[in-house]
Amino acid sequence: MEKIGNLDLNKTHLGDCMELSKELPDDSVDLVVTSPPYADTVSYGHEVEVFNPENYVDWFLQLFHEAYRFLKPAGSFILNINDRATNGERSTYVFELVYRIAKETRLKLFDRYIWFKKSALPMPGDKRLNDRIEYIFHFVKDTKKFKTNTDRVREPYKEISLRRFKNKVHGNDIINSDGTTELSQRGSSKPHPLGKKPITVFRFDTGSALRGLKHPAPFHPQLPEFFIKWLTDEKDIVLDPFMGGGTTGVVALKLNRKYLGFDINPEYIKMTEERIKGEFPDKGLNDFLKR
Ligand SMILES: C[S@@+](CC[C@H](N)C(=O)[O-])C[C@H]1O[C@@H](n2cnc3c(N)ncnc32)[C@H](O)[C@@H]1O
Repeated sequence: MEKIGNLDLNKTHLGDCMELSKELPDDSVDLVVTSPPYADTVSYGHEVEVFNPENYVDWFLQLFHEAYRFLKPAGSFILNINDRATNGERSTYVFELVYRIAKETRLKLFDRYIWFKKSALPMPGDKRLNDRIEYIFHFVKDTKKFKTNTDRVREPYKEISLRRFKNKVHGNDIINSDGTTELSQRGSSKPHPLGKKPITVFRFDTGSALRGLKHPAPFHPQLPEFFIKWLTDEKDIVLDPFMGGGTTGVVALKLNRKYLGFDINPEYIKMTEERIKGEFPDKGLNDFLKR
């Protein structure tokens, strides 16, 4: 079986990602896509510590120090995270985390994206507006050397945009009612043959739409799929240090990438293995590694 350091590829390893990540060789991982336990929110079984917003940042920062070492210069780290409001105040640990990653590790914040959730539970009470967003932060090891392939994630133009191209209308962007921008035509008079460049607001489904998966907070495949297509090539290595229900692994294999996962809860490791067997019934993992 192909390995990365001493760790088998295309496998989710049981253990604490803060420890397991130390086993990864320097410059070995192409992409991290992950969503950690949020401070003080969901319980992932009695063996998993629920972190308090006060010590969360110190705990989590360790992984980003390691990530600078194990990412390839062309690599990226995609972090989906959220905060919550309790006792009338929204916590600030996400902002503190991002600030400290940028200041205290050598990773650079390339960009920040918003995940606009198509559906979410209404917020109780009158004062607080209904919350439909999560954050996605994009860190890189080297702002000049990190790779993207935007043509792979271009999207179809809307009819109205194509009409504007045809009529050679130049002007301001059209802002939709949900805050997304229709198209900026500044500087271009022809549509791109492969479609428009995505905007920094994503409309991924939530993982709760995945029926039958017994994990409390799985990714919907759309989220890892977008970033794996955009930021890696076939055969690249994708790591999810908080693998949970295994979505990142399944998507990586479907896109002909190799994956590596960590999770501290043995039930989720079993869940991921069973899910992958179910998705690829005719293949042993060696079939993926040979490609
Ligand atoms: C938000 S969930 C990740 C969900 C995942 N993105 C998916 O698609 O299912 C966080 C996961 O991190 C795991 N976890 C918590 N602390 C961990 C640690 N120190 N090391 C590795 N995994 C951990 C939990 O068991 C849980 O499955």
